[in-house]
Amino acid sequence: MTGRHVVITGGMGFLGSHLADAFVLAGSNVTVIDDLSTGHLGNVAHLQDHPRYRQIVADVRDAASREVMERQADLIVHMAAAVGVRQTMENPVETIDTNVATTTAVLQAARTRNVKVLLASTSEVYGKSTRIPSSEEDDIVLGPPSHLRWSYAASKFTDELMALGCFRQFGLPVVIARFFNVTGPRQSERYVLPRFAAAALAGQVLEIHGDGAQTRSFTHVADAVRAVMLLAESADAVGEVFNIGTPNEVSIGDLARRVMRAVGVVSEREISERCRLIPYRDVYGDRFDDFQRRVPDVSKLASWTGWRPEHDLDATIGDVIAGLR
Ligand SMILES: NC(=O)c1ccc[n+]([C@@H]2O[C@H](COP(=O)([O-])OP(=O)(O)OC[C@H]3O[C@@H](n4cnc5c(N)ncnc54)[C@H](O)[C@@H]3O)[C@@H](O)[C@H]2O)c1
Repeated sequence: MTGRHVVITGGMGFLGSHLADAFVLAGSNVTVIDDLSTGHLGNVAHLQDHPRYRQIVADVRDAASREVMERQADLIVHMAAAVGVRQTMENPVETIDTNVATTTAVLQAARTRNVKVLLASTSEVYGKSTRIPSSEEDDIVLGPPSHLRWSYAASKFTDELMALGCFRQFGLPVVIARFFNVTGPRQSERYVLPRFAAAALAGQVLEIHGDGAQTRSFTHVADAVRAVMLLAESADAVGEVFNIGTPNEVSIGDLARRVMRAVGVVSEREISERCRLIPYRDVYGDRFDDFQRRVPDVSKLASWTGWRPEHDLDATIGDVIAGLR
């Protein structure tokens, strides 16, 4: 990576800013592009004076962004996207437009000099599939379009198809990374683990959306970043899809209780009293659709790159809490 120019779209967001740190540390020249729609200058404030760091506050589709991707990039890490269940439910049109149009812009720019693209996708593309664990060649099972929640998954699935199409048709070197609930310091409190941690630290009630029995597998951002770095280096990974996640499944109800214990609440009675179930309909309205379990099969990532997760769930919870403190 030393001396190479890495362009990170969405580089002032949660994952993108951690990737900027890692690529700078690895000796790359890094340019981040971000329109600050959900990103923050504070996420990259510590990089401002680094001689190998540059930033452009712009939309990925703007001319300034296109120019740096077309003329200077040796690798494009495409993280920019409209993200989050609430964003998707409230702004489905913007979600689809942003995700498909930014990926189109990135792929077009990359084609001018055949630059490698690492595309951020998501475990959401597995939709309502009941196969556990989810594996890269599984069928995609999305709910009906009347349930707008699937707009995000559909837009990311379209991005994957476009990227793999560019690989097959034009030989563009692309790698698809499907992230599973990545979390850690700097993640917005719009997401469940930082939201629980903030409420637990403030002595407030933890609101569990749904019945709390739904499970997810949380991945420490440092483990996700290491996986991206390995995939960026791997020539074999080109034209392939990889799950990036940690198979430590936990129910959301259990997660809330573990967060509370991690901030020092010892009374089981207090823990029960401070966990409140909120029906999905009260959070997202009537036409919300969900899935019960999400667990990644990461055997492909492990066997192709040697990657292993280094953080279990308690370490991950601990780092989220430490980040908020
Ligand atoms: N964090 C996770 O658990 C997770 C899981 C699955 C997939 N992903 C994917 O990883 C990527 C990063 O997600 P994140 O969690 O860091 O979210 P984030 O919201 O922190 O990062 C997204 C960044 O993209 C920027 N952005 C959005 N639209 C843009 C545009 N048109 N031009 C320029 N910048 C734009 C935002 O300002 C933000 O900084 C996304 O593509 C997301 O779909 C993340």
